[in-house]
Amino acid sequence: MRTELCERLDIEFPIFAFTHCRDVVAAVSQAGGFGVLGAVGFTAEQLEIELEWIDQHVGDKPYGVDIVIPGKYEGMGEMDPAKLEEQLKQLIPPQHREFCAKLLADHGVPEIPADEPKRHELLGWTEATAAPQVEVALAHERVRLIANALGTPPKDVIERIHQAGRLVAALCGRAAQALKHKAAGVDIIIAQGGEGGGHTGDIGSVVLWPEVIDAVAPTPVLAAGGIGRGRQIAAALGMGAQGVWTGSLWLTVEEAEAPPSQMESYLSATSSDTVRSRSWTGKPCRMLRNDWTEAWEGPDSPGPLGMPLQGMLVTDAMTRVHRYAGPAQKVAFNPVGQIVGAMNEKLPVREVIYELVSEYFDSVERLQRLSPEE
Ligand SMILES: Cc1cc2nc3c(=O)[nH]c(=O)nc-3n(C[C@H](O)[C@H](O)[C@H](O)COP(=O)(O)O)c2cc1C
Repeated sequence: MRTELCERLDIEFPIFAFTHCRDVVAAVSQAGGFGVLGAVGFTAEQLEIELEWIDQHVGDKPYGVDIVIPGKYEGMGEMDPAKLEEQLKQLIPPQHREFCAKLLADHGVPEIPADEPKRHELLGWTEATAAPQVEVALAHERVRLIANALGTPPKDVIERIHQAGRLVAALCGRAAQALKHKAAGVDIIIAQGGEGGGHTGDIGSVVLWPEVIDAVAPTPVLAAGGIGRGRQIAAALGMGAQGVWTGSLWLTVEEAEAPPSQMESYLSATSSDTVRSRSWTGKPCRMLRNDWTEAWEGPDSPGPLGMPLQGMLVTDAMTRVHRYAGPAQKVAFNPVGQIVGAMNEKLPVREVIYELVSEYFDSVERLQRLSPEE
């Protein structure tokens, strides 16, 4: 299982785990994989606290940070986050705010007490908000890789990361995007098939992986989208991937932080219970289908806004569905891929990695039996 990327990053297994939860990052890296912290929900100051914690719990292992700088978004070019937020707020129509408020009220989701400070609406979905996150990440020695979602990272961001001696990865859902990443100097391409959780394209993994691997060779490719079993890792490495990049799988581990009702939604869902919806972030994102996603498709829907406006619009809803997760179960944001149908048990990270690796070896043996030496 040791690919060249394992040597470069000094890891035992080429299993990359994307997660928003610091405990999972540390546990995956400790177990021989490579944990990657999703930074999009954190301000630069909060990210510093998370990375400090990981440094104290990851031992001498490496880990990564994931940022989101989309190739295209409203307000692109404005680099002052406060100005950008003010400018973008004006673009959110009142009827959209009313639609969200009514949807939550109809489901009995309580409001946030009026005396609580309001959260920033503009999180790390833009270059203006992601650039300071990169600086924070690079100040932590064990951060060996920075990944970017939703587009080719800007030239200066790639240069900055390279100057600091770290690797740059970027996600893609089509071979053409992978070629753009390669031309910009990205070191590792993550090919994410449409069955994956979170933002995703519509080409399935089995078609996409070899297409991207061939298009960008010899640049290393990590296969993503739908991986939750060792058999799928064997398929990915058999096709020429240098490792796998996983996300959904880590939502239901013991170390993951999630309200009990959300955990229950994930553990009981089948592989046909997800949908690609723009209703939370403005770009197609795979999540569990529920009353919220259906309402945005329904006849009264004002239609989702683009990124980052939709994310700003739903900031209050996001806080409420998380805080009042029980009453909000039918309108909650549950990003996850189709592999959710195989996630039926809450296990510790170490055990999940062990199962992935042992099923991978079973698959390799099965193939070896098909081609005996004589
Ligand atoms: C809950 C969730 C949130 C995600 N958020 C991000 C993100 O902020 N940045 C990113 O690069 N990818 C994000 N992704 C995508 C993952 O990085 C990964 O590519 C994807 O989960 C792989 O497919 P899988 O879910 O089938 O394993 C997210 C995925 C999930 C499930």
